[in-house]
Amino acid sequence: MKKIFYCPEESNFYSNCIENFVFRKCEDSPYIVEFGSGDGSPVINSLLRNRFDGVVHGFELNSHAWKVANSTIDEYHLNTKYIIDNSCLFASTQPEAEYLVANPPYLPAPDNDIYMPLLFGGIDGAEITNQLLSLGYDHVLLLVSSYSNPKSTIEHAKTNDYYVSNFTVAPLKFGYYSSEPKVKQHIEEMRNNDIAFYSGDYYYLAGVLFSKKTKSEVDLSKELTQILTGM
Ligand SMILES: C[S@@+](CC[C@H](N)C(=O)[O-])C[C@H]1O[C@@H](n2cnc3c(N)ncnc32)[C@H](O)[C@@H]1O
Repeated sequence: MKKIFYCPEESNFYSNCIENFVFRKCEDSPYIVEFGSGDGSPVINSLLRNRFDGVVHGFELNSHAWKVANSTIDEYHLNTKYIIDNSCLFASTQPEAEYLVANPPYLPAPDNDIYMPLLFGGIDGAEITNQLLSLGYDHVLLLVSSYSNPKSTIEHAKTNDYYVSNFTVAPLKFGYYSSEPKVKQHIEEMRNNDIAFYSGDYYYLAGVLFSKKTKSEVDLSKELTQILTGM
């Protein structure tokens, strides 16, 4: 099990965000791209709970996780709704889609020699998140952690013409991966530099829907920044 990302609290939160911000919002038969499907449970659970006529096209580098995801997809006969490639989205031809969704790797650390290297989010934890906001999708649903330089992500989104169209926040306890001494120590140093925010054993995880700017929309960037940096 340690070969596959396992944090039910976080995966369930992500699953709820997919339902509320994407499945129940998009019209027609949308095509959704997912970065880092893991064992597939967040999307599978959302598909089982909702009537959704589109297709989710996932990308997962970890072949153990990819196999588990595919066997669950088979079990629930979801093969026409959820397709996962065992490859990296960045290295693939970008599928055309309106929505990109991800619970991305966001662990900050000095390097990727950590319990699960595929959870490494670059030195400040925001690298992959910010890369996902550079691919040009109209709507990007991402989990953003308060200890992974969240201000840089909100700024990066703005630079790439996104506004925060909706978000929800949950306090999460530092878990197995973020409590690894090398990671936790690095996060502590980041806090001293005002780029990581947490309180005691808890940090905030936000599910954020970034959308490309249109004139009339209300941008919630300020409110999101206040919450994520206010711990
Ligand atoms: C935080 S986990 C989320 C897993 C799952 N979506 C969930 O919420 O339970 C991030 C996932 O991204 C995968 N990943 C990391 N880098 C990747 C890449 N370049 N391409 C595809 N998947 C990647 C990891 O293997 C891991 O399964």
